[in-house]
This record gives sequence, C-alpha cells and structure tokens, in this order.
Amino acid sequence: IKVGLMFGGRSGEHEVSLKSAASIAKTFNKDKYEIIPIGIAKDGKWYAPIDISGIENFSQFINTENQVTILPYPNENKLINIKDNTVVSKLDIVFPVLHGTFGEDGTIQGLLDLANIPYVGSGVLGSSVGMDKIAMKDIFAQHDLSQVKYIGVLRSEIERDIEKVIGEIRDYLEFPLFVKPANLGSSVGISKANSVLELKESLIEAGKYDRKIIIEEGLNVREIEVSVLGNDNPIVSLPGEVIPSNEFYDYKAKYIDNSSTLNIPAKIDEKVIYKIQELAKRAFLALDCAGLARVDFFICKDIGEIYLNEINTLPGFTSISMYPKLFEVTGIMMADLLENLISLGFA
Ligand code: ADP
Ligand code: DAL
Ligand code: MG
Repeated sequence: IKVGLMFGGRSGEHEVSLKSAASIAKTFNKDKYEIIPIGIAKDGKWYAPIDISGIENFSQFINTENQVTILPYPNENKLINIKDNTVVSKLDIVFPVLHGTFGEDGTIQGLLDLANIPYVGSGVLGSSVGMDKIAMKDIFAQHDLSQVKYIGVLRSEIERDIEKVIGEIRDYLEFPLFVKPANLGSSVGISKANSVLELKESLIEAGKYDRKIIIEEGLNVREIEVSVLGNDNPIVSLPGEVIPSNEFYDYKAKYIDNSSTLNIPAKIDEKVIYKIQELAKRAFLALDCAGLARVDFFICKDIGEIYLNEINTLPGFTSISMYPKLFEVTGIMMADLLENLISLGFA
C-alpha cells in the first residue's frame, strides 16, 4: 500500500509536524507499506520525489538530530505541480501528518476529497470544527458536554472599541482568564491574564494570530488526555496526565523545556476514568470525527468537576507523544495503531 505522508505545512506547528512525521515514517511496517514523503514548506510550496521508485526510505528526506527533525526537503526542481497530479495520483491513501492551520483544519481534507484520494483522520467537517475553538465549544455546548465558561470576540471588535470588549468580558467572566486565538494549537498565542491590563495585552497578542479570539475562565486544574481510535464506534485509551513545567502548558512547556511530566497512565479513580472515556467518545461523535483524535480534559483541583477542554484531530505523534503512548499502555503498539488508522481511512 502506497501511503503519502504529508508533513510540514503552512502552520505555526510546522516543526512539530516534522517530528511527528519522522516517527510515523520510522514505525510503519515496511513490508506492507511504501511511504511516499510529501513535504509542504512554510511558504506553501509542495515537495515530493517525482520518481517514487527511486526512493528507498523516508529517512532520505528527514534527518533526526538529537530528536529534533530538520528539514532537508528535496530540492526545488522536485516541486510537484498539483495540477498535473503526477505523484498524488499514484497514492493509495494519504496520511496528513499536519498540525494546525492548513492541515488539521479541513483544507487538505477537502483537497483530497476533491481528488478522490482516501486519507487518515477526520473529514472536512470534523477537522474544521475541531480546529476552531469557538465553533467546537458551541457544538459541545449543544451536546451538553461540560466546559469552562467562555466567550468569543472578533479582532475587529477589539480594534473598534477594546474598552467595551473588556467590559463585556468582565461582566460575564472572572479573572484569571485564558485568552486564545480561536484557530491555533500547541499553545501558540495563548496567554493568561490576571488583571485588566494583562487582559488588554493578551487580546492584542491573540489578535496577531487570528481574527477570532476566545476568552475562558482559568481554573486550577489537572490536565487529563485520552486517545480515541475508530470511526462510528470509536475506542478510547486509558487516560494520561500532563504536569506542565510552566505555570500552564504553553509552547515552551510542550516542546522546549523537555521537563513537563507525562504520567501514562494517569493516576485517577476508575470511575473518573470511565466518565472521561464516555465523554471523549461523545465529543468525538459530536464533531463527526473519524480515525483518530486526542481529547483533552481538565479536572478542577478544587471541586473535582470534569471539564472537556478540546479535541485535537491530528494530535502530536512522535514516539513519546501522548497519542501513541496512551494506546501503548492500553495494549495497542504504535505499528498496529498505524495499521488500524490506514484501515479506518479506507473504510
Ligand atoms: P492548544 O490548542 O493550543 O493546546 P489549549 O486550549 O489546550 O490550547 O490551551 C493550552 C494550555 O493552556 C492548556 O493545556 C492548559 O495548560 C492551559 N489552559 C487553557 N485553558 C485553560 C483554562 N480555562 N484553565 C486553566 N488552564 C487552561
Ligand atoms: N497540536 C499539537 C500537535 C497536539 O495537540 O498534540
Ligand atoms: Mg491543548
């Protein structure tokens, strides 16, 4: 089976995608799958080997140094012209290992639907709704899934009258607040605001990344995540817990410090595990997701209440990432997980 592995992408999470793709490429059972690398550079140019038969393995295109993947894309003259479809038409299935905008948000999924090429993961709807934190939370609310209090604002409203926006936020939400660009991931552009001044700065900062911004009440929480695998009848892994090395799980704590702790599996009560698994399944189905997702929860340290935080339809997928690790402790090794994902993509 020829699997087109797309990586990189026009996203703030480009570097994370390189790491995920490298570990996926390494893990695929090479007797069964032929991996065709398709790199998308930060400027949106596509790179892939024109002559697929000459490619022995993916590592020709991705080097790993101290676990940090660098990007020696094949050179410019191997650029694919998507219109002539030379490479893409030879693929049996695509695995878009792209995080964030232009990859996790339905754009690539739409292109693949149009080209009639099967792919791993959620379709256009699940991907796009899962990417937009405001749309996602509005749908979760419709499904009575418990969440922290939030409101969405537009950058244009902030530009027009920031004092009015702050007044409306303060009427509805209590400090501390989390301010986030609606359409991003890996904590890019997110800040915590403890005062009106910080709220103002946070709104301006988030507005640099997106025209839609979400503001949430910040709670003192444990962060619990589960992995989901399947289409209409998904299975859910055991939960894991993230203990961030910073005040919250920001980009630095996720990828730079290397000192955040992942407890896999999380030490939580069996009843709570069951509740979280049921909620994760409901969240996955509410957004019409497919294939895979990681669903992230908060457990309030003060009252023990469980809140759904978000769904990631293309979660980080390095060999030490939560998504494959949680299935490993649940009894599904990463090579089998990939095989399952490919089958689900054809289904
Ligand atoms: P991303 O999609 O970028 O991962 P999240 O919404 O998961 O964005 O927020 C990133 C991190 O910020 C979380 O993992 C958590 O550490 C912290 N955080 C976000 N929202 C809240 C909240 N309402 N209360 C407490 N911590 C939060
Ligand atoms: N957005 C990153 C890759 C994650 O959720 O794992
Ligand atoms: Mg998150």
